[in-house]
Amino acid sequence: MIKLPQLSIGNIKLKNSLMLAPMAGITDLPLRELAVEGGAGLVYTEMISATALVYGDKKTLKLLSTSENEPIVAAQIFGTQPQVMAECAKRIQDLGYKIIDINLGCPAKKIAKVGAGARLLANPKNVESLLAAVVKSVSVPVTAKIRIGLIQGQNIAPEIVEIAQNCGVKMLAVHARVAEQGHSGLPDLEAFEKATENAQIPIVANGGIIDIITAEKFLKIPKCSGLMIGRGAIGDYDLFKRIECFFDKQELLPHTSIQTRLRWFKRHSIASAKYYGEEKGLVVLRKIAPYYIKGLPNACALRNRINKLVTLKEFDEIFSNINNI
Ligand SMILES: Cc1cc2nc3c(=O)[nH]c(=O)nc-3n(C[C@H](O)[C@H](O)[C@H](O)COP(=O)(O)O)c2cc1C
Repeated sequence: MIKLPQLSIGNIKLKNSLMLAPMAGITDLPLRELAVEGGAGLVYTEMISATALVYGDKKTLKLLSTSENEPIVAAQIFGTQPQVMAECAKRIQDLGYKIIDINLGCPAKKIAKVGAGARLLANPKNVESLLAAVVKSVSVPVTAKIRIGLIQGQNIAPEIVEIAQNCGVKMLAVHARVAEQGHSGLPDLEAFEKATENAQIPIVANGGIIDIITAEKFLKIPKCSGLMIGRGAIGDYDLFKRIECFFDKQELLPHTSIQTRLRWFKRHSIASAKYYGEEKGLVVLRKIAPYYIKGLPNACALRNRINKLVTLKEFDEIFSNINNI
């Protein structure tokens, strides 16, 4: 019987080895609180620009707000210059963060253009300088999130695992797709397994985990240390509990119903309005709304209406005719 591994990151023992992936524009404080309630053992901020933080950008600082409802949050940073990344990590540690994560996996044009994210993997020497500088600058555990490669057929992960562990990185999350795939296509389980084979630090799997079946595929890999879930958990926060219960207690919890999903949506809208102010809170939710309303027969029309909302009252009016929200 496959069990969910226990996971410690450096000296930090997590409640479970299930984590919410960092997602820009999505994993803000209101959403992270819902994921914690749904059973995530670790949640991440969205990626934070090291340069912006070091230059005192206020919006960037806001991305780092946390609450007492989040037992443990990792702050993810991106950048290219070791000294700037190190300074950024220090400031984040001073804010009280217990884990600093480095983005070595983002393929977005905006990030690739400056040579950050997954683009760094093209030059392992630069990866080494960056990781070493950040690890040296803080006392909290440093982790990183990588891709298995940049282009189809490439598996650079085993080499990066070795570099990272030698630098003192305490855990790696491996997104088992190459950067050129973006976020689509099946994860490459074989490439992920190769990444784990000689690892002496925990290696956590990411990519395409949406249910118990996809979770099990990774958990069957002997040295898989945990699961990081992105889009599959948005609006279905109980996915964490379902996976934990299934593998720890052999208990099958019911799937999230559309009513439950809509209830999460309503709670999210209230939390988002409180966090950002009503109008901005609802604008932020536009990107997330499709995850909540998928499966509804009128999802497309509903999305168009949600995109025009500016008050919570309007939000309630739209949903008042859907039962049991
Ligand atoms: C909208 C969006 C934003 C993302 N932002 C980040 C980010 O800030 N940092 C990061 O490392 N990965 C980011 N990712 C990648 C996710 O963390 C994750 O690796 C990816 O979604 C694959 O996991 P999944 O198949 O479970 O969704 C983002 C993905 C999406 C869809």
